[in-house]
Amino acid sequence: MIELRNLSKTFPGTGKSAPFTAVDDVSLTIPRGSVFGVIGHSGAGKSTLLRLINQLERPTSGSVLVDGQDLSGLSERRLRPHRRRIGMVFQQFNLFNSRTVYGNTAYPLKLAGLPRAEVRERAEQALRFVGLADLARRHPEQLSGGQRQRVGIARALAASPKVLLSDEATSALDPETTGEVLALLKRVNEELGITIVLITHEMDVIRRICDRVAVMDGGRVVETGDVYEVFANPQHPTTAAFVRSVLPEQPAGETLERLRERHPGTLLTVPFRHDGDLGRDLSGLLRRHGLDFSLVSGGISEVGRRPLGSVTLELHGAEAEVAAFLADPQVVGLTSATNGRRAVAA
Ligand SMILES: Nc1ncnc2c1ncn2[C@@H]1O[C@H](COP(=O)(O)OP(=O)(O)OP(=O)(O)O)[C@@H](O)[C@H]1O
Ligand SMILES: [Mg+2]
Repeated sequence: MIELRNLSKTFPGTGKSAPFTAVDDVSLTIPRGSVFGVIGHSGAGKSTLLRLINQLERPTSGSVLVDGQDLSGLSERRLRPHRRRIGMVFQQFNLFNSRTVYGNTAYPLKLAGLPRAEVRERAEQALRFVGLADLARRHPEQLSGGQRQRVGIARALAASPKVLLSDEATSALDPETTGEVLALLKRVNEELGITIVLITHEMDVIRRICDRVAVMDGGRVVETGDVYEVFANPQHPTTAAFVRSVLPEQPAGETLERLRERHPGTLLTVPFRHDGDLGRDLSGLLRRHGLDFSLVSGGISEVGRRPLGSVTLELHGAEAEVAAFLADPQVVGLTSATNGRRAVAA
């Protein structure tokens, strides 16, 4: 749906400041119908990248294709009909306080010159979709943050976009309201088939609703891929740090030392993946070797609706049996089937 090719944006320097490259040679393919997350720390270039997609920011070099159309070369006038099909939601909602919920939702349609009946129908339909039909006569200041963001989403939906760009849409909201707005965005994607590009600095947002993710650092994309695979096997240090912020870490360093003090037996940490047979295979293997175990650490959470994590066991049994278990080709097979993250005996 969106193809970014060698995209760069350098802001010209002013008298005092040097030119600054906010987006540096980014190439990405965003599949139709996906929820694509872009994560990075403050200043990484996320908002600039998002604004390059709808050409609110013109690239210094490279191109932006949306639904097969190269937008980067179009004049403002030729761009307008394409831009209308790209909705945007913002962290600070950007609503008019002087207009009602309905007025805010209908505003872009009126601006586009749609017939009155169609404006009404589309705006009402969008408000029903986000669950705000009953509050259509209220003004934004009479709404909670979550409700305001739903107005922002309704306003974007009313224009029947093919793509929705979300710039930190949940960053101003509390955790519970964040969950509601993310669930609404997922519905927008699944029920309306709208491709969503979502930028965030929270890995938890990526974990909950994205299919694919790109990690930005210093204007560059340092890692990209399927969300589950990126979480299971992060390659870049920036990505690994984001993953650690939401997934329990495999015990290491001082944590591992403390575990060892409490549990004198051999400790085995085994990664848990949705496509592994850890539960069944591991218990069968332990039984066959006459071993027992206690669970001493670990956690399994959902990433993209599939389980991911690791568990650490203390093995109970005679030393020779533990050694035979660890040398068992099936145990080795079990660990190598986990895509790079190996089980660790300590
Ligand atoms: N119009 C501009 N002129 C000059 N520099 C800019 C301009 N817009 C952004 N920048 C710079 O580009 C860099 C990237 O900014 P951007 O807003 O894209 O980051 P971000 O990843 O969205 O950060 P945040 O998480 O804080 O929103 C920043 O260092 C910023 O100061
Ligand atoms: Mg930003």
